[in-house]
Amino acid sequence: MKGVHRKIQLLIALGLVLATGACEEDYFYEVPPPRVAQATATLEAVKVSTPPATIGASFWKTADFLKVSAADLSTQQLFGDGLMNMTGTFAGLSSFNNGAAPDLKLRAAYDNDNLYILAEWTDTDVDASHSTWLWNGPLDPKKADANLGWTSQRNCDKIAFAFDIANASSSNGLFSNVGCAAACHNDGVKNRMHPQSGSVDIWNWSVARSNPMGYAEDLTASSDSFYADGGQKMYVRNTLGSTNRSGPAFEWDGNSQSVTLGNGSNTVLDPAYFLLNKMPFTGNVQRGDSIYHSAAPPGDCVYCHGPNGTGGSASAVNHLSQNKKSRAALLSGMDNVPDMAAYWSPLSQADKDDLVAYLRALSGVPGYYLAVPTGSSADIIATSNITPVQLINSYLPSTNVHTKYQVLIIRKLKTNNTDDIQFDLTASKSYRFGVALMDNDGVNHIGSAVETLTFK
Ligand code: HEC
Repeated sequence: MKGVHRKIQLLIALGLVLATGACEEDYFYEVPPPRVAQATATLEAVKVSTPPATIGASFWKTADFLKVSAADLSTQQLFGDGLMNMTGTFAGLSSFNNGAAPDLKLRAAYDNDNLYILAEWTDTDVDASHSTWLWNGPLDPKKADANLGWTSQRNCDKIAFAFDIANASSSNGLFSNVGCAAACHNDGVKNRMHPQSGSVDIWNWSVARSNPMGYAEDLTASSDSFYADGGQKMYVRNTLGSTNRSGPAFEWDGNSQSVTLGNGSNTVLDPAYFLLNKMPFTGNVQRGDSIYHSAAPPGDCVYCHGPNGTGGSASAVNHLSQNKKSRAALLSGMDNVPDMAAYWSPLSQADKDDLVAYLRALSGVPGYYLAVPTGSSADIIATSNITPVQLINSYLPSTNVHTKYQVLIIRKLKTNNTDDIQFDLTASKSYRFGVALMDNDGVNHIGSAVETLTFK
């Protein structure tokens, strides 16, 4: 009896010690430490009840991430005739953002309806043009293309994802094993993004052509073609003809370019880069060029503004910011410069229109105009951290304060369109994908050919 009693006493004592200890620990950990995001081996999509539908959503602040180790995916490629100075990622990693590490991180979540992917990477300048029309633009040191007359120049920054729609494969293997290495870069054939059989879903976000409307472009690469998904695309080539030397069909009509983005929010598009509200491109650029460079007034703008709009005693007129002025504002601005009167006032209205055409062509006329996408082309909603201020800074390179991109992509798990991947979680919770980054480029890219998206 005595022994049992002592054992009970000991147990009580031990219990008290443990209880006190537990109390102390409870007290010590009253405020739990904040969750620290961890790197994961796959892109883990976490099931959420509150959709993280904005870049600033608190979910993203602590979400785990896949750190993509970027490699050269496509290098040393050039565009066809007339497309110049558009290959900023020509040498791959060593060209991308001047060789700085891209530090690409992906985070993901899903709810009953949608997949959310937040991509974040380092690129310290914003390139926001695509195939801009320039008259007598610069030569491209990588190409033998002539630069006289109209050419299509400048490119933008992009991120693209590739998913397997239907057992894409090539001689390199199945997409499910080797990702884009099989399906996108087929047998080393230049500029081909086709599998040999099956099809690949491409989500292509770009600063110039998809972001201004709040979407990513939805494309399909099949064995015989690379095509846009059904419906109206969010951009249309702004051209008078069929080549990259045909010249622009439209210019900005001067009306504020307010637009409702894919996520329902509203913004105003900067006419320095983007064309939404348009009218036919007016004036004869060749005649404007002649009047600008005439040897004596009227005309002879070269006397103060320098050849091709720069390098003279008066300010440069070949600047992207000139595009922020409507045609009427440009005309009245020139009416109001006393120094210019002898050179400008005697000109006919037709001469003045031709000169404005030439000024527009020196600054660059947007190579595409934007449209509200519909159907399967409107499947991928995208939001980014690109603000009008960053765009303005990007044409004033000395003040370009952009450090990293943040792009949030939202897509229905199941679109039920045959040209899309369907995330049917009852069938599979694991999906292979590839991801590519482009700095001022479209044909050369860095990234990872094969990663895995896992629904948790
Ligand atoms: C005698 C010198 C001179 C000549 C010649 C001249 N300009 Fe100017 N221009 C100026 C000055 C000065 C300004 C005011 C801004 C600045 O200081 O550069 C100006 C401003 C402009 C602007 C900006 C107007 C605005 O909206 O603020 C444009 C565009 C322009 N010039 C085009 C032309 C064209 C086209 C011609 C030929 C018809 C021409 N200029 C001839 C001196 C000149």
